[in-house]
Amino acid sequence: MVERTLVMIKPDAVRGGHVGSIIRRFEGAGLAIRALKLVCMDRREAEGFYQVHRERPFFPSLTQFMSSGPTVTMVLEGEGAIAKVRQLMGATDPAKADPGTLRKEFARNVEQNAVHGSDSLTSAAYEIPYFFSALEQFGDDRTA
Ligand code: CMP
Repeated sequence: MVERTLVMIKPDAVRGGHVGSIIRRFEGAGLAIRALKLVCMDRREAEGFYQVHRERPFFPSLTQFMSSGPTVTMVLEGEGAIAKVRQLMGATDPAKADPGTLRKEFARNVEQNAVHGSDSLTSAAYEIPYFFSALEQFGDDRTA
């Protein structure tokens, strides 16, 4: 099934100058960019994005980190895009990520882990419109 997923290059990877390398990896895997922008979330916006994690002990630190600088936020599309992105990213904790994955290569630790990708269709349905309106996404009936 062709899917859309919300992907973020997190502030650690943007600061580290890894945006181009990470996007190249997604494009190389056949994923198409349908929307893309640099986003500077404030604390409240980061809390809204990660609201499913609000009871977790790491929530304050995570939202502080995610609002500490710009993220490159995009919508990627492709066959099985959600699983494909998650495979390319590797495990949440870079210490447990497979060699060759983005987090193994670029992440600092379990929190500052370079990239985010929607973990399900349900998450993507919340996360994509959190950042992009229909008019800001290329595709559907406007690709012809
Ligand atoms: P992400 O894929 O964006 O989804 C939730 C984020 O919470 C995750 O990546 C990490 O940045 C962060 N996270 C998950 N588990 C932990 C943890 N044990 N300690 C700190 N941060 C975490």
